Amino acid sequence: MTAPRSAAPSAPVNAPGRQPAAARESAPLIAARGVCVRIEGRTVLRDVDLEIRPAEIVTILGPNGSGKTTLLRALIGALTPDAGEIRRSPDLCVGHVPQRLSLDRTMPLTVDRFLALSGARRAARQQALERVGIGGRAGAMMAALSGGQFQRALLAHALLRRPNLFVLDEPTQGLDQPGVAAFYRLIEDLRRETGAAVLMVSHDLHVVMSASDRVICLNGHVCCSGAPHVVARAPEYRALFGLGTQGALALYRHEHDHSHAHDGPAPAREEAPRE
Ligand SMILES: Nc1ncnc2c1ncn2[C@@H]1O[C@H](COP(=O)(O)OP(=O)(O)OP(=O)(O)O)[C@@H](O)[C@H]1O
Ligand SMILES: [Mg+2]
Repeated sequence: MTAPRSAAPSAPVNAPGRQPAAARESAPLIAARGVCVRIEGRTVLRDVDLEIRPAEIVTILGPNGSGKTTLLRALIGALTPDAGEIRRSPDLCVGHVPQRLSLDRTMPLTVDRFLALSGARRAARQQALERVGIGGRAGAMMAALSGGQFQRALLAHALLRRPNLFVLDEPTQGLDQPGVAAFYRLIEDLRRETGAAVLMVSHDLHVVMSASDRVICLNGHVCCSGAPHVVARAPEYRALFGLGTQGALALYRHEHDHSHAHDGPAPAREEAPRE
């Protein structure tokens, strides 16, 4: 897998969370400033600043309709913002898993044929499937996969691009809780093995809190962002998700009464909520 290379210098617009030290020092893969998007005359995103650095896992949280998918689309260049600027590293290579993929369920498309759409060779396709844990499903119909297997097939497709940034829009949709946890472990392993950064959208509040280096709460604008433990106690975050004192923060604390070898260094700085 390709390791991220350095990019053109760009001033930081967001505080680091607990991403690896190397990520804090590297130039961003993507840097967005003052991004505004209007759709059909309605402002969907306003004044969004955000940056993604190599090897960090950043999660965007927000209610339905808060602009998460729109933001991802703007960041990867699928949509042009009405205002603001998005800078991308010259060597940026995105492996995108969209929120929706409409496949005709009657179409006889095997997993291997689906992966072949990437242009990758058979050996690489099989290797990608094995890496995401569904090595035995190459000949299965895409329509016959379980929810978790389907998401893994999409991830394998993204992996074949050898990206230095995975952009995953609700990759754990439809998975049960063990499935969600396993998927996040896979994401973290891929980050460690490939050095790729991960930008994902999720609704799995408490799992995200343990699996991300940095969290961004979006509701048409960035309500708050920073290290998970900082965001978890931000009033903006709690208001956004209607959490009381026994909400995700309690779950997060419960899950973190022990230490992880992969927790990484302490954040250089904690960011205060913004409004
Ligand atoms: N192509 C479109 N045409 C019209 N409105 C759109 C379009 N795309 C997005 N919108 C509107 O922009 C807003 C943000 O949509 P977006 O899909 O980015 O939200 P989201 O945060 O990803 O929501 P969800 O959690 O449901 O996926 C919504 O009000 C949506 O209706
Ligand atoms: Mg969405």
